[in-house]
Amino acid sequence: MAERLSTTASYLGACLLPAAAARRAAVARSSLPLLPSPPRASAALRSIHLIPDGHRTALRPSSPLSSLRPRLCQRPQATSRAISSSAVCSASDPAQLKSAREDIREVLKTTFCHPILVRLGWHDAGTYDKNIAEWPQRGGANGSLRFEIELKHAANAGLTNALKLLQPIKDKYSGVTYADLFQLASATAIEEAGCPKIPMKYGRVDVSGPEQCPPEGKLPAAGPPSPAAHLRDVFYRMGLNDKEIVALSGAHTLGRSRPERSGWGKPETKYTKDGPGAPGGQSWTVQWLKFDNSYFKDIKERRDEDLLVLPTDAVLFEDPSFKVYAEKYAEDQDAFFKDYAEAHAKLSSLGAKFDPSEGISIDDDSKTTAQQQFVAAK
Ligand code: HEM
Repeated sequence: MAERLSTTASYLGACLLPAAAARRAAVARSSLPLLPSPPRASAALRSIHLIPDGHRTALRPSSPLSSLRPRLCQRPQATSRAISSSAVCSASDPAQLKSAREDIREVLKTTFCHPILVRLGWHDAGTYDKNIAEWPQRGGANGSLRFEIELKHAANAGLTNALKLLQPIKDKYSGVTYADLFQLASATAIEEAGCPKIPMKYGRVDVSGPEQCPPEGKLPAAGPPSPAAHLRDVFYRMGLNDKEIVALSGAHTLGRSRPERSGWGKPETKYTKDGPGAPGGQSWTVQWLKFDNSYFKDIKERRDEDLLVLPTDAVLFEDPSFKVYAEKYAEDQDAFFKDYAEAHAKLSSLGAKFDPSEGISIDDDSKTTAQQQFVAAK
């Protein structure tokens, strides 16, 4: 553990700008994120969350004790604290979700961690299997990725750094579930990078223990023997279609691949050697912190050896069905933005159990068409 924490601390040190020294110190001090596998009884007790300002006392629905006691919801007793709570019974508190979003924006400004937060949200959600009815066995966005056993899956290499960035926010807002925090961080990161508003809903219930983590091997591999067939195996299992596969792949407009994590990409390129954030890795695009349609243009042209094209990226212009969408997105950024935002919102709710079942909106302009179409998984 000590070795892992010091590795992470040095990652954070390299990742952050000098101006963020105070936050770096705070993050480094907060060294609890790797949650060990707790014994069942203590996991059950920990899942009873007392909101620290005394506004609400709620027994988490995921708690094994929830079947033994009624869930308590109380009206706010005081309003003086900055972190307020509503009287709504839900997995997460809307006011705390909004405050957490502001904190995420601050972290993004100082650490440039947009890409890894997007990858964190995707990897928590992308374990979903539509053929399994039971929650949480069906996988999906349920906060299971906070547990060490799942963070150690090969596909999740490096994501412990994302969890370390979010843990201080989780500690501050006990009325926000991990499942919601991961999806909130991902959606906020991609919007801050330039994506139009994603029609998100919140209220995801957390799994309560590491025994509820999915088995390894649910996420896609980057270099399988038949990339198109592999992508369809994985994404169809989640109930997603060819258009959504191509649109979601466009998230690689952001970020870099690091050989020491995934085995893919160059150690550094002319676009990554100076950061921002921790230098190194190979990006898919030149401006890898800006969300636009350059991923599709760059894969199509393949003119720059410093830009990454994974086998599962290349196939988007090789498979006849994928190619229709990839060509369209290379030409028409608005079409990409629209399809991406819808697919991202869908991905973020896969497998999730929402409380309340219709989900919570934290946006004032909540009556968009896409949001009205939202159907929360039961
Ligand atoms: C289509 C199948 C996919 C494959 C095979 C794949 C594979 C990979 C690999 C190998 C990396 C490099 C990880 C590292 O070395 O740190 C990566 C990074 C990334 N992936 Fe994917 N991915 C896929 C889909 C997605 C989807 C659907 C999203 C989001 C909606 C996504 C978002 C990202 C982001 C933002 C990064 C950059 C992370 C960073 O810079 O730290 N990927 N992906």
